[in-house]
Amino acid sequence: MSTLRVLLSAERIHARIQELAARIDQDFPSGPVYLVGILKGACFFLADLARAMKTPSRLEFIGISSYGRSKTTSGEVRLTKDLDVSIEGYDVIVVEDIVDSGITLSYLMQVLQQRKPKSLRIATLLDKPDRRQRSVKVDYVGFQIPDYFVVGYGLDFAEDYRNLRDVCILED
Ligand code: IMP
Ligand code: MG
Repeated sequence: MSTLRVLLSAERIHARIQELAARIDQDFPSGPVYLVGILKGACFFLADLARAMKTPSRLEFIGISSYGRSKTTSGEVRLTKDLDVSIEGYDVIVVEDIVDSGITLSYLMQVLQQRKPKSLRIATLLDKPDRRQRSVKVDYVGFQIPDYFVVGYGLDFAEDYRNLRDVCILED
């Protein structure tokens, strides 16, 4: 049977998001900033970040399927849902739940850069730097964590646990 151990409480997550939002407000005082959430894991982070920001934002979602984890180092990534709008000339922040190997984000950044945004940055709730295979420049990091498998606050294991308020370590 698997057990859950709290790594980051809802209260710590909330407090950290206020800090990230304040930094984004400073960096983009006027807006609008397009927040592009990667489905589905980033949905709660995106919702809380957008509401903590004072700078006006617009919400977009993108879907990605990654084969990079099962087929080791294949680095094969595919868009399953594209943006609804053109981001040309806009400030864009990609919002992700966790950066692990970096394969997903390095691919997505290439794709989005081709669409000529005014600026393109990354905000991630969690960063597992130990497992990085592709270097990605992450501009806003909530928490750096060791190489645990974590669930909750959007993160899943086989689609379960996304709705937990805390980020928890899933242990067998
Ligand atoms: P990568 O950076 O391309 O390896 O992929 C990151 C994606 O893998 C994230 O968006 C998550 O969907 C998933 N992922 C990586 N680590 C974890 C974890 O600890 N728990 C849940 N999902 C994870
Ligand atoms: Mg994901």
